[in-house]
Amino acid sequence: MRGLRAAVGGVDGVVISTPEYAHGVPGVLKNALDWLVGGPEMVERRVLLLGTSRHSVHATASLAGTLRMMSAHVLEAPPIELPRGGPTLHERALAADPAVGLPLAAALAGFVQTLLAVRARRAPGG
Ligand SMILES: Cc1cc2nc3c(=O)[nH]c(=O)nc-3n(C[C@H](O)[C@H](O)[C@H](O)COP(=O)(O)O)c2cc1C
Repeated sequence: MRGLRAAVGGVDGVVISTPEYAHGVPGVLKNALDWLVGGPEMVERRVLLLGTSRHSVHATASLAGTLRMMSAHVLEAPPIELPRGGPTLHERALAADPAVGLPLAAALAGFVQTLLAVRARRAPGG
């Protein structure tokens, strides 16, 4: 867990994109977050929640509640609908699909703007 703490503690922002299982957050992700409770790593950390289905509202809501309890700042992007039922697409093919790539780029660009604004406010004289 030292690796996770170091990784999260050393960044401006965290992006979480997860499947929903049985109307909940997958256990491994919840467990990882539980290890960070009580530490300084998530406090004031900007976290972008990037859903992959408009149906996965329970996991997103639960995740947001957990993260807010940890004093993180939660930002929610509109869910991006990943294609289902076809051949398995890898990340480059998914990113090249305008229905995925364009909203993904917009969500990440908005998040980067947020992080830059936070950094500018923290900078001496900013
Ligand atoms: C056991 C199990 C439970 C699931 N429960 C939900 C659910 O409650 N809501 C939902 O939107 N999708 C649910 N899904 C679909 C997953 O969120 C996900 O879209 C799908 O499993 C593909 O992702 P994966 O390959 O990482 O498992 C479930 C999938 C599994 C295997």
